[in-house]
Amino acid sequence: MEYQRERCRRLVLVPLPFQGHITPMLQLGTILHSKGFHITIAHTQFNFPDPLNYPDFDFLPMSDGICERNVSSHNFIALISGFNTNCKGHLQESLARIMEKEDQDNKIACIIYDEYMHFAEEVATHLGIPSIILSTSSAAKMQSYLAIPRLQKDGYIPFQDSMMLELVPGLQPLRFKDLCLQISKNLDDLLQMIAKALDPRSSSAIIWNTTDCLEQSTLAKIQQEYQLPLFPIGPLHKTVAATSISLFKEDQSCISWLDKQSHNSVIYVSLGSIAFMDNKDLLEMAWGLANSEQPFLWVVRMDSTPLPQGFQEAVGGRGCIVKWAPQKQVLAHNSVGGFWSHCGWNSTIESISEGVPLICQPYFGDQRVNARYLSQVWEVGLAWENDMKRGAIEEAIRMLMVGNEGKLARQKAKDLKQKIELSIDHGGSSYNSLNDLVDLILSF
Ligand code: UDX
Repeated sequence: MEYQRERCRRLVLVPLPFQGHITPMLQLGTILHSKGFHITIAHTQFNFPDPLNYPDFDFLPMSDGICERNVSSHNFIALISGFNTNCKGHLQESLARIMEKEDQDNKIACIIYDEYMHFAEEVATHLGIPSIILSTSSAAKMQSYLAIPRLQKDGYIPFQDSMMLELVPGLQPLRFKDLCLQISKNLDDLLQMIAKALDPRSSSAIIWNTTDCLEQSTLAKIQQEYQLPLFPIGPLHKTVAATSISLFKEDQSCISWLDKQSHNSVIYVSLGSIAFMDNKDLLEMAWGLANSEQPFLWVVRMDSTPLPQGFQEAVGGRGCIVKWAPQKQVLAHNSVGGFWSHCGWNSTIESISEGVPLICQPYFGDQRVNARYLSQVWEVGLAWENDMKRGAIEEAIRMLMVGNEGKLARQKAKDLKQKIELSIDHGGSSYNSLNDLVDLILSF
């Protein structure tokens, strides 16, 4: 009876409205719903998921005051600051109204918020509700953030160009160029945003979309900094049944194309939802892929520059180009043998979970940290640090798909895939961590 009462408790989830952050938050919602909790998604008007795709969830819109004419959707620091300023009052009022009507069987047990949406913690504290942080990126990124105050104190920031290839003291194998502090024009704003993301305030725990078999030692170091329980329960997409969480329409036609290709032969190329190649790089990539003679599946998003004339005719049926792919299905397909990736954390963990080795071409933020770990620590990725020239691209693709380096990386990726499967299976580390998280929420 007691169990039944607790199963009716409500969780309010507050995602940061970008694909790479919404995805893990909605996956977490689906997992916690399967554990018996009611789920409310408090969302901005900017980039929100379609409620029709989630009939089991309630949706609570928050006015975010973002005028897309004034703030570019690529100015993340301004957007994040806008959400934190503008959404707080609205969330607080809406939840206060819900709480007035709530009964014992439908109480808000806690607010789970993206690490960048810290206004949600202020709302939770004001209303006397516990809160938990969801960190959607790697623990390695968090560790690199944690080092920043020390690096500032020791006079390393801002970095000199001459230091870029040096290892960061205490953060090996990361080099200064791998840290996310490259955008010097708004360095102060960036440092402020990082400081806010690092401060757990009164939150009760941090959930991670990672797993011990990838990041146990990094998590142990982070644990020394925080007096909070950490719950590495990832990879979330392997625990939850596959629902599409895409903000864009997935083109399923590439799956029937993959069905016709041979085992491990296809290189999948995608830069996630934000990073993009400029005109010149896209042209080189196109001819590098064409000349590699490997079959390829390439995501060229709607907002990318058009492909060069004559390219599609030149590659014929050997290439499949889509605006947005069902990526998890693609990576799980046995024709896919390699991934040219920007190394966003979701792409990183999705690729490793399917035993697919990568070529790592990071663009910004945490991508450089993930890329470095992929190539140097987990040894499942080949680092791409060259200028985009078709000859070098062709060579790298061959190296990954048919060369010895690729073979070794593929073997390591297959080993990690097995370890990840064990971690989410009954009694595995992520499985146990998830149960501990549920117990914590039930104890509130
Ligand atoms: C952003 C940041 O850029 C990234 O560095 C950070 O780790 C998370 O937030 P994004 O660039 O979109 O994310 O990359 P990523 O984290 O890889 O997430 C992309 C998601 O979109 C993945 O879940 C992937 O499966 C999905 N995707 C991508 C598709 O479903 N189809 C595609 O065609 C491309």
